[in-house]
Amino acid sequence: MDPLSRCDGSILLNHEGSERKFDVSKTLRGFKVIDDIKAEIEKKCPKTVSCADILTAAARDATVLAGGPYWMVPYGRKDGLVSLAKEAQLVPMGHEDITSLVEFAGLGHSFRERAHTIGRASCGSIQDRLFNYGGTHGKPDPSLNAQYLNYLKRKCRWSSDYVDLDATTPRTFDVEYYSNLPKKMGLLSTDEKLYTDPRTAPLVNALANQPSLFFYQFGVSMAKLGNVQCLLGHEGEIRTNCNFVNSKY
Ligand code: HEM
Repeated sequence: MDPLSRCDGSILLNHEGSERKFDVSKTLRGFKVIDDIKAEIEKKCPKTVSCADILTAAARDATVLAGGPYWMVPYGRKDGLVSLAKEAQLVPMGHEDITSLVEFAGLGHSFRERAHTIGRASCGSIQDRLFNYGGTHGKPDPSLNAQYLNYLKRKCRWSSDYVDLDATTPRTFDVEYYSNLPKKMGLLSTDEKLYTDPRTAPLVNALANQPSLFFYQFGVSMAKLGNVQCLLGHEGEIRTNCNFVNSKY
């Protein structure tokens, strides 16, 4: 069982000790958008559409708006009643090796068709690559493109700063992220390893050269992820406010 992939809106619960309140979740954004959508829907159709369904549809629609693929989202998920901070700890942080990512992928996540074509990472995630690679005291990761390294050093003055995951087209859902990897312009060390590890390099080449393959695979993975460990039927509830379970609201 993979607690990470629970499609029950547990990440939206906003109480002490919830996944959302945990340290690794502090860079998550967009909660207000979900709250606004929920408020609109509640006005027109009270207690009918779960927060888990809204979140799943919003992820798809945001992808389409950024230029990415469309996939079918079946509805009817219920919202969970529990959210535990320690489950957020299981999310990979970008330092893992390919073996652990393959194991992670085995849990139902696609590590190859990741969406690092958009979005950003906190500089804290790459601080060691820039300034202290493998305990070298001041030396950067030699596998980083020199120009890109200089750019990142300028961007990342503080670990709380942010930097784009896709160095060239950060606002467009495209295959540039994959084309950048052979140029040594992968931001996270897990991005870079995707190309330097012989097990995953052929995939990078295939995805970089065939946007339609990336779009198709991404849609398939997302549709699959959106259906992992859903609560259906009498399990769970339909929250009135995505931040709280109904009994406490
Ligand atoms: C399993 C391999 C993966 C690893 C190691 C990984 C790692 C990371 C890390 C470290 C960040 C930056 C977080 C931060 O500093 O705040 C990040 C951001 C992001 N990841 Fe992944 N990720 C993986 C898979 C995926 C997958 C499968 C998707 C898409 C379904 C994805 C989509 C994203 C997006 C969109 C962002 C940017 C979020 C933002 O702008 O705040 N990642 N990832």
